[in-house]
Parts: sequence; structure tokens; C-alpha cells
Amino acid sequence: MLSISRISRSFGGVEALHDVSLDVDHGMIFGIIGPNGAGKTTLFNVITGVVPPTQGKIRFGPADITRLKAYQRNRLGIARTFQNIRLFGSMSVLSNVLVGQARLTETGAKSLLPRLGSKREKQLREEAEDILALFGLYEMRERNARELPYADQRRVEFARALASRPRLLLLDEPTAGMNEEESAELAEDILKVKQADRVILLIEHDMSVVMSLCQRVAVLNFGELIAEGTPSEISADPRVIEAYLGKEE
Ligand SMILES: Nc1ncnc2c1ncn2[C@@H]1O[C@H](COP(=O)(O)OP(=O)(O)O)[C@@H](O)[C@H]1O
Ligand SMILES: [Mg+2]
Repeated sequence: MLSISRISRSFGGVEALHDVSLDVDHGMIFGIIGPNGAGKTTLFNVITGVVPPTQGKIRFGPADITRLKAYQRNRLGIARTFQNIRLFGSMSVLSNVLVGQARLTETGAKSLLPRLGSKREKQLREEAEDILALFGLYEMRERNARELPYADQRRVEFARALASRPRLLLLDEPTAGMNEEESAELAEDILKVKQADRVILLIEHDMSVVMSLCQRVAVLNFGELIAEGTPSEISADPRVIEAYLGKEE
């Protein structure tokens, strides 16, 4: 479903990604791990169209998306969360999620708020409320996003990305800054949205989360893909242990 072919990306003298190729099938939670600065977020930026690759090609289903703009990729069903929270703090939790539905409306984000009236809008609103309920955020839907505890704000971001009914969902360190209990809850939320026709790419430092959620894992180190396989294959790979896992201990 997602095919990344020989992607490189340089920033000045730094090669953030070097000749990375990956194929990811739908129905899967696919982990991306590696030390800080390894190029994980850059890979997400290249897949979502935030930065173009210096070289290489990206296919999503039958489409070559390498040169599409970010909003065009979003329309095809690609959605993400960011490593640092990017919510509309003074807007309600529900409104933040409604914004995520822009690709599903004819007019996009412009006409989103207020959105009263049509049957279609009512249906989308119910869908947004269902997502909030799924993540245990329904009771907080009218509160300003910035009033929520940190872990819940991260969950709202996740809900917003999900609201576009993505076929490819990219989560950049969704458990960053969370305690063990909050991480475990978020891991459960990720499992809830796994579906046969969806790919979830997950950048994650917490190896217990990676092990429990991911069917396959890719390991980046200094911009290079050094291993790809099942979680148990990855955790037994000497190159991975040397580059990443060993240092964690
Ligand atoms: N927009 C940018 N401009 C300049 N350098 C960047 C930019 N984005 C990433 N980099 C550099 O690319 C390398 C990889 O960064 P990043 O993809 O954020 O790593 P990770 O997410 O694995 O920690 C780092 O050296 C970083 O400083
Ligand atoms: Mg990063």
C-alpha cells in the first residue's frame, strides 16, 4: 500500500535520510525506531509532503505521490500527528476534531465552523463525537483544548488525525512525555483504530509499546535503514542492539 523507494533527503551538509526503501502493507501497525536525529521525523515529513525528498519515489496505492502537496496527500487519505502538540488551544476539543474532517467536506477547512444544518454535517459531527468517545474524551468535548491534561491533548491530536478517515496514519512519538500508565492507555487507543484497510506508521521510543503493537519494525540510524523485520527479529539484530537498543539500557 505504501512504497518508499530509495528516498534521500539532505539539509545543507546533513543527510537526514540516505537511500531508504520500505514497503508497508495495509492492516498493519508498522514501527519506526532509532536514536534521536536518525531521520524518523524527516521520513514522516517526506511521506506527508512537508518536505520534498532530494531523491527517490513514494507510491501510495497505485498513485505516485512524490510530487503532491501535503493537502493533496491528505485528500488521498494520509493523516499524521506531530512530535510536538499542535492543537488549536482556544478552540473546543470537538472543534479541533471537526477540523480534521476537512478532506471529507466539499469546501474543506474554510467553511468548517460553525457547521450547523445539513444532514451531512450532522453525520460528520456524530462521527467526530464517536471518535472522542472511543478515546474517552467525549465528556471533555466542549472544553478548550489547552485546558486538558497533557496526555489528553495528545489524544485529541490523535482523534483529529483519525477524523479524516485516514488509510495511512502516521503517529510521531504519540507517547512522548507520558508516564507508563498513560503510555499503556494510548497504546490501547492505537490498537482500537487498527483496521484491515489502513496502515499505521508509528514512531515510538517505548520498546514495550513497539513490541506489543507493531507487526513489523524498521530501524533508522544516521539516516540509513539498518534493519527491518518483526519485533523479535529486530530486537535480536546485533546492528540494532549496537545502534539503539544497547544504549537504552
Ligand atoms: N527542516 C530541517 N532543517 C535542517 N535540518 C533538519 C530539518 N529537519 C531535520 N533536520 C536534521 O535531520 C536530522 C534528522 O532529524 P529528524 O528527522 O528530526 O530525526 P528524528 O526524528 O529521528 O529524531 C537531524 O540532524 C536534524 O537536525
Ligand atoms: Mg523526531
